[in-house]
Amino acid sequence: MGTVILGTGSCLPRNVVTNSDLEKIVDTTDEWITSRTGIQSRHIASGDEYTYKLSARAAEKALEMAGVGAEELDLIVVATISSHMLMPSSACFVQNEIGATNAFAWDLNAACSGFLYGIDLADKYVRADKKSKILVIGAETLSTRINWEDRNTCIIFGDGAGAAVVGYSESESGYIGSNLSSDGSLWKLLHMHAPESTNPNLKVPDNTGAHIVMEGREVFKHAVKAMEDAVRGLLEREQLTLDDINLVIPHQANIRILNKLKERLQLPEDKVFINVSDYGNTSAASIPIALDEAKRSNRISSGDTVLFCSFGGGFTWGASLIKW
Ligand SMILES: CC(C)(COP(=O)(O)OP(=O)(O)OC[C@H]1O[C@@H](n2cnc3c(N)ncnc32)[C@H](O)[C@@H]1OP(=O)(O)O)[C@@H](O)C(=O)NCCC(=O)NCCS
Repeated sequence: MGTVILGTGSCLPRNVVTNSDLEKIVDTTDEWITSRTGIQSRHIASGDEYTYKLSARAAEKALEMAGVGAEELDLIVVATISSHMLMPSSACFVQNEIGATNAFAWDLNAACSGFLYGIDLADKYVRADKKSKILVIGAETLSTRINWEDRNTCIIFGDGAGAAVVGYSESESGYIGSNLSSDGSLWKLLHMHAPESTNPNLKVPDNTGAHIVMEGREVFKHAVKAMEDAVRGLLEREQLTLDDINLVIPHQANIRILNKLKERLQLPEDKVFINVSDYGNTSAASIPIALDEAKRSNRISSGDTVLFCSFGGGFTWGASLIKW
């Protein structure tokens, strides 16, 4: 009995960009991208596929699965680092788009860990008021924040949105807990500046522009260790072992990070949900998209314990557990 995910949904942009397409833009090859990242294609937004539009479509599917009306929502949280406006938030746009007239709404910035942070926050609300219905969305159009001349980054990221409706259930299932962390001292390894300051008296040093900058090798090392530590810490605290876990849904950063994690935790192949080859790294959207796919393809059954883990810019990272 406790906080449960009542429904999930996801939405991907129509346009698919393959590694061969990227060969025409930067000095790279399909072979390099596939062997270093496991990514073969990614969805890239076009037309009016803004972060909030993808979010709203994902939300509608999640509400439908949950059997919850938009007007029943109390709160909408959109985890994103690629809102199409700085103000209003994507969450406010979603609120309007889906007609969630009774909800308040705001965005959460925790990069790739945003969805897990959002679910943890929703759990606190639901514990405080069992009637609460909360929509947590992870959504990105990182294609709008990429330097398309930087082959180190433009091959990695993709666009998309995933959503979950969170509420309360008297059943045996529920949110077990989380182990979330941040370390702002390492920000430089993975960051994105805001647009140039218009205040001439306040100059932001080293502003490389409002796009993603990444020290790939360093990020790789931190990502593997942080996710491993978060998972081990959480399982130890909850007195569980990996044998108690039915499915692991990790942030889909890239296949080499996921393989290292599997190796360190000695996770069998069939216990880890991976879809990075089709979507690339969709940051805050990656876990909810994977969760929705896992749910809709019956990889999660009633009674299953699902483990999530994430890592992203900040640094932010963590793990959480839900019994279905
Ligand atoms: C980005 C990443 C794939 C790069 O792989 P790597 O093995 O570390 O490669 P390096 O950065 O050391 O670069 C090796 C060479 O490949 C080149 N290279 C980089 N990107 C390339 C590309 N897209 N195509 C071809 N060559 C490329 C580099 O310029 C370098 O060439 P050099 O040896 O002549 O200098 C890898 O570091 C990684 O996965 N990091 C984690 C990224 C991530 O997941 N970030 C998000 C976390 S949420």
